[in-house]
Amino acid sequence: MARLNQRAYRWTIDKLRPVQPKSILEIGFGTGHLLQLAIHNLNVSKVVGVDPSELMFETARQRLRRYRKKAELDLKLGDDSAIPAQGQFDAIAALHCFQFWPTPEETLAKLRGLLSPNGRFVLVLRRRYSKSVAKSLPNPISRGNNEIADACAAAERAGFVIQGMQGISKTSHGIILGCG
Ligand SMILES: C[S@@+](CC[C@H](N)C(=O)[O-])C[C@H]1O[C@@H](n2cnc3c(N)ncnc32)[C@H](O)[C@@H]1O
Repeated sequence: MARLNQRAYRWTIDKLRPVQPKSILEIGFGTGHLLQLAIHNLNVSKVVGVDPSELMFETARQRLRRYRKKAELDLKLGDDSAIPAQGQFDAIAALHCFQFWPTPEETLAKLRGLLSPNGRFVLVLRRRYSKSVAKSLPNPISRGNNEIADACAAAERAGFVIQGMQGISKTSHGIILGCG
């Protein structure tokens, strides 16, 4: 998974770099590769993340434990509903996990409340599901026929401003969201 997603990780780090983030929140951190890059390349000092898979949680915990002196680490076993209720993050990232959020409008609204005024939220959508996979996705926006446009519209309803977007690869589409 990590090797396949390298391009999306690099793209996300590039798009977060201009805000010089000190803190990052990642939803669905998987193996923890993006958070590792954020510590290495962006020098973030606070790292918070949620992922509901015990395997991913343990993999990321092991990967990141060597950085515990460099950055404050707070990884939680939990899905998108377990993101912190309070706090401010300069960077928020969610790569290839939007399709699993059962109530995306609620999650987007919570994330909007957690983004610092000059911060950025990079949302990377997984593209090209087969029809049968698409039908079974928990996220109603991803189940629909126009995930990118509908995700952008939902993000705007949540109070985000779209700062840019780009096809990253055949299977990934990145959207950069800010507060203004
Ligand atoms: C395709 S993987 C992507 C992992 C990582 N973001 C990456 O790009 O390498 C999807 C991840 O989303 C997590 N996930 C599944 N349902 C989720 C949810 N409701 N909220 C947050 N993460 C979820 C999975 O456990 C998995 O780690």
